[in-house]
Amino acid sequence: SDPERDRLIQAYEWSAKFYHYLLKNTEHGTAAMEYLRSRNFSDKMIDQFQIGYAPDRWDTLLQFLEKRNFDLAEMERGGLLSARGEGKGYIDRFRGRVIFPISNRTGKVIAFAGRVLGEGQPKYLNSPESKLFNKSRILYNLHQSKASIRKTRQIVLFEGYGDVISAWDAGVHNGVATMGTSLTENHMAIMKSMADEIVLSYDGDRAGQAAAMKAIPLLEGNGLRVKIALLPSGMDPDEFVSRYGGDRFREQVIESAVSTVKFKLIYLKKNHILLEEDGKIAYAKEAIEIIAMLHSSTEREVYLREIASELDLSYDSLKQDCNLLRASMQ
Ligand code: GTP
Ligand code: MN
Ligand code: MN
Ligand code: MN
Ligand code: MN
Repeated sequence: SDPERDRLIQAYEWSAKFYHYLLKNTEHGTAAMEYLRSRNFSDKMIDQFQIGYAPDRWDTLLQFLEKRNFDLAEMERGGLLSARGEGKGYIDRFRGRVIFPISNRTGKVIAFAGRVLGEGQPKYLNSPESKLFNKSRILYNLHQSKASIRKTRQIVLFEGYGDVISAWDAGVHNGVATMGTSLTENHMAIMKSMADEIVLSYDGDRAGQAAAMKAIPLLEGNGLRVKIALLPSGMDPDEFVSRYGGDRFREQVIESAVSTVKFKLIYLKKNHILLEEDGKIAYAKEAIEIIAMLHSSTEREVYLREIASELDLSYDSLKQDCNLLRASMQ
C-alpha cells in the first residue's frame, strides 16, 4: 500500500464531511442551500450524494487540514489545496462552489467537482488528476448504482452530475456519468463487465445529440446493446425531472428509449429540409443507408414503411433502393 494515497483518502473523506456540514448546518452554506433549492435538490438528495459547500474564502479547508496535521504539499498534489500565486503557502482550491464528491467503485471519495452558484467560469472545477483520481476510469455514482446495474444488467449513461442525482430521485438507480469527457476504452470495459445494455440519456441539445451519435458505434463495437432516451429539444434530464417530475421522466424518457436506428433517423432528419425535393431525396438516401445495415428484413420493413409514409413515397421504391444497396454491399 501507498501511505500518501491512504492519507489522501482520509483527507477527502473528512473534507467531504466538512463541506457537507458547512452546507447544511452553517451560515456559510445559506446561499448555496438556496441555490440548490432553486434547482429542486431535496435534503434527501443532498444527503444521499453528500453534496457540500466550499465557502468563498482562501483558508477554510486549509485551516481544517492544518489542524489535523495533514502535509499541505501532499494535499496540494491531491487537489484539495492550490499553491499560492507568489511565494510560499497554500490556499483552498475550491472557493464559493457547491461540492459534488466523486467516489471510486468502493465508495471512497477520490475527487471533488465544484460548481459555481449560478453563472460563472468555469462552471465546474474538478480536482486534478492525482494518485487517486484518473477521470478516464471514473464513472460518477458507480458505487451507489452498481447493485441495481448488476440486477438489471443495464446502465443509464448521463452527461452530468445533476442528471444522475435527479434521475436517482426519480427512481432510476442504475445511472452513472462520465466526468464531462467522452467515453474511454476504460469506461467501456467497466460497463461491459457489469451490463449488457446502455441507455444513453445525454442532453437534448446539439452537443448532447452529437455526443450520442459518436458513442453509439463505440458502445456497439464493444458488444453492448444501446438505446437512446429522447428529450425535448434543448432540455437535459435534470431539467426534465424538475419540470415534469420523476414519474414522467421514468416512463416517457427512460422506459421509452428508442433504438439506435430510430435515433439516427431522427438525427438525420434534422439536417434536411423535407419540404424541398433535394432535401427529401437526400434524407431518403441517407436513411436507406442506415436501414440497409440492419440484418433483419422485418426491421428493415418497419423503418422503410415509416420513412415512406413520412415522405409520402411508396414503400416499394424505397425497398428497391435498399435492396440494391444491400446487393452492392456484399
Ligand atoms: P448544470 O448546469 O449544473 O445542470 O450542469 P450540467 O451537468 O447540465 O452541465 P453541462 O450539460 O453543461 O455539461 C455536462 C457535464 O460536463 C457536467 O456535468 C460536467 O461534468 C462537465 N462540464 C460542464 N462544464 C464544465 C466545466 O466548465 N469544466 C469542467 N471540468 N467540466 C464541465
Ligand atoms: Mn448527510
Ligand atoms: Mn450539455
Ligand atoms: Mn446538461
Ligand atoms: Mn443540467
